[in-house]
Amino acid sequence: MVKINHNSAMGMFVAILVYVHIICVAVSGRVHPYLSGVEKPISNIFDTSKYGIYQLGNGLGGTPQMGWNSWNFFACDINEKVIKETADALISTGLAKLGYNYVNIDDCWSELQRDSKGQLVADSKAFPSGIKSLADYVHSKGLKLGIYSDAGAFTCQVRPGSIFHESDDAKLFASWGVDYLKYDNCFNLGIEPEKRYPPMRDALNATGRTIFYSLCEWGVHDPALWAGKVGNSWRTTDDINDSWASMTTIADLNDKWAAYAGPGGWNDPDMLEVGNGGMTYEEYRAHFSIWALMKAPLLIGCDVRNMTAETFEIISNEEVIAVNQDSLGVQGRKVYAYGPDNCYQVWAGPLSGQRLAVVIWNRSSKTSTITAKWATLGLESSTKVSIRDLWKHEYVSENKVASFGARVKGHSCEMYIFSPSTVTRSVS
Ligand SMILES: *[C@@H]1O[C@H](CO)[C@@H](O)[C@H](O)[C@H]1NC(C)=O
Ligand SMILES: *[C@@H]1O[C@H](CO)[C@@H](O)[C@H](O)[C@H]1NC(C)=O
Ligand SMILES: *[C@@H]1O[C@H](CO)[C@@H](O)[C@H](O)[C@H]1NC(C)=O
Ligand SMILES: *[C@@H]1O[C@H](CO)[C@@H](O)[C@H](O)[C@H]1NC(C)=O
Repeated sequence: MVKINHNSAMGMFVAILVYVHIICVAVSGRVHPYLSGVEKPISNIFDTSKYGIYQLGNGLGGTPQMGWNSWNFFACDINEKVIKETADALISTGLAKLGYNYVNIDDCWSELQRDSKGQLVADSKAFPSGIKSLADYVHSKGLKLGIYSDAGAFTCQVRPGSIFHESDDAKLFASWGVDYLKYDNCFNLGIEPEKRYPPMRDALNATGRTIFYSLCEWGVHDPALWAGKVGNSWRTTDDINDSWASMTTIADLNDKWAAYAGPGGWNDPDMLEVGNGGMTYEEYRAHFSIWALMKAPLLIGCDVRNMTAETFEIISNEEVIAVNQDSLGVQGRKVYAYGPDNCYQVWAGPLSGQRLAVVIWNRSSKTSTITAKWATLGLESSTKVSIRDLWKHEYVSENKVASFGARVKGHSCEMYIFSPSTVTRSVS
């Protein structure tokens, strides 16, 4: 491994390029435009020193996964009717067309025991037609089916887990036509996640079916440090709950690992709570904006058969989704925080085409004006920037220089794309 000299910014930058080049060539033979110099980063405040692309090698996760998961709204109260109606609703609402194409069943789909041959079996009351039939239905709608298991003796709801059954279970999932596996961390026998998660990666690979592999070890062993070669995404935190406190805590925890995300492998701060009732419209809008900026998986967690207009407006915002799905694949991060308890925050990240996504977030409970200075975004202060508001869906400023301020209500955020008209660089 190349040793990075942290004392020298320039040395580090060069070392990073060498390091990334070696990794990319060794792993996939591909170099991301951002790192190859085709797309010049606007500045290097958006450290991507641990960025690797397609390290897992199953070709999936080029952009963060999008879809729906049963847990946040339904928990164990699931059945094949709910899953089918959800697939139908993703189509009829137009959400599928916007990219939400995984229909993911979480815990509680299986019987409490394996069968006499040691195979997992779908719960006969909730899923009488079986998972294969459900997968066929979901596929017939042009969507993909996800399932859930656990890298331990039992799932969190005490169904059979897959540890030591990786090969059998992966084959079974593949035979059903499953496209996605969320792999949880309960009843893990005290064995390190670094040892428990790779066997399922290898088992899924050996089936020959391309299956998205979503690690859910709750961030306990800092998976950003090792999971790039294991999964397409890895949870960085404990479970989210439907509250402002949980959502903001998780955003901050996930932010720490921004440098490690990239195409093929994403930090996962858990599924969306938008539409579940525990936060205000403004808070849910902030939740969705920040998740999109952080290149988090966008997995809807509400009942899409019965959404309010406000919920739909938030999760169907195409401009915000486009930030999440941008081809550059660099996680946006908190770049500046000030004011009481550092509640006035600027989050930002580079996008393709030399643009920046910028979120101005008021974490306090009162309205105030929050200002993003160009320096905090890595821009020269003379750079002229056109600014598009992604929630108002309009340009709010042209040729802006030096800074941009907005009045932001308490717990609210505004989200923009900054397009610098010229990228000036200081010559020394
Ligand atoms: C299995 O892994 C190899 C090596 O990374 C990769 O080339 C292949 O496409 C993978 N197959 C599947 C089905 O994921
Ligand atoms: C939700 O998460 C917050 C922050 O982690 C925590 O304080 C709170 O107790 C949780 N609420 C529930 C109902 O679990
Ligand atoms: C739809 O959601 C509303 C709350 O937004 C709830 O009161 C109602 O019971 C739900 N209807 C169904 C059929 O689930
Ligand atoms: C954030 O919101 C609070 C409460 O609405 C307000 O008092 C404060 O001035 C706002 N701060 C900024 C920077 O907008």
